[in-house]
Amino acid sequence: DWTSAHFVTDTVAALKKQIGDRKVIMALSGGVDSTVAATLIHKAIGDRLYGIFVDNGVLRKNEFQQVLDTYATIGLNVKGIDAKELFYRELKGKTDPEAKRKVIGKLFIDVFQEEAKKVEGVGLLGQGTIYPDVIESVSVHGPSVTIKSHHNVGGLPDIMHLELVEPLRSLFKDEVRRVGAELGIPANLLNRHPFPGPGLAIRILGEITPDKVQLLQEADDRYIQGLKDHHLYDQVWQAGAILLPVKSVGVMGDERTYEFTVALRAVTSVDGMTADWAHLPYDFLAYISNDIINNVKGINRVVYDISSKPPATIEWE
Ligand code: XMP
Repeated sequence: DWTSAHFVTDTVAALKKQIGDRKVIMALSGGVDSTVAATLIHKAIGDRLYGIFVDNGVLRKNEFQQVLDTYATIGLNVKGIDAKELFYRELKGKTDPEAKRKVIGKLFIDVFQEEAKKVEGVGLLGQGTIYPDVIESVSVHGPSVTIKSHHNVGGLPDIMHLELVEPLRSLFKDEVRRVGAELGIPANLLNRHPFPGPGLAIRILGEITPDKVQLLQEADDRYIQGLKDHHLYDQVWQAGAILLPVKSVGVMGDERTYEFTVALRAVTSVDGMTADWAHLPYDFLAYISNDIINNVKGINRVVYDISSKPPATIEWE
């Protein structure tokens, strides 16, 4: 019968056999799958695993540093690459959702390959692929972007021509979390909501600017922290704030304001394929609306998204 302890023992042995004395390079995202996969590989080969974590400029507030700190705690050998300016430069003027995805996917590969070149004699590419990624081939965004491409790091395998190391290929998400707990990975990381590869770029409707990213980071951070403080974070499958390309009139003291609107999204779901909007308590919605409007300068209106998937999607872009 399956236990996470057996899985760890067997997998580490199998990884040692597959990898031998070669080196593995791997892109880490701060998410559950890549972290658990990397930790297993690290257990097998130590610092011959070279992790790379890229700041693409559209991560959550403080996420880059926090994730790097967590990796350091686990003992993973991960290099953080600050590529914010490069991403902002190439995203400038892009308003179409798929165009934004393409830019981010391409730049990510460029940055990763550049770093991979610096590791002499790399033989394998680590990936956090899990079983649903292997079997799912259903398209949700039209022919060019499938669920599968969401979860993989933008076609790295084909381009790098490296042998793959995918220790989680046979596991479902709950099993990945159990293995992660067995490996001592902190619960706050294992219970993180899914976060899309293109990050806040697909939650800023229209053009992305560093100012808008900062504005959304502040609102999103208050929202997520508020959910945690009110013990709601673990009750929803995914949550985030969306910056709308809309300004509206408000009043602050005796002054008229003309500022942006954020939409708050929270959904319940099993796998992201279908989702219901989460019925967050009115008291919480009242609290968080005030909290955001009173503390995030540049936002004077908060709305709550009550659309389910289908026909809406979880993300707005
Ligand atoms: P939608 O918006 O399609 O989202 O209902 C379903 C799940 O997929 C995530 N998502 C993405 N993840 N790259 C990713 O890595 C993407 O381009 C992307 N688009 C959506 C979304 O956050 C949700 O969990």
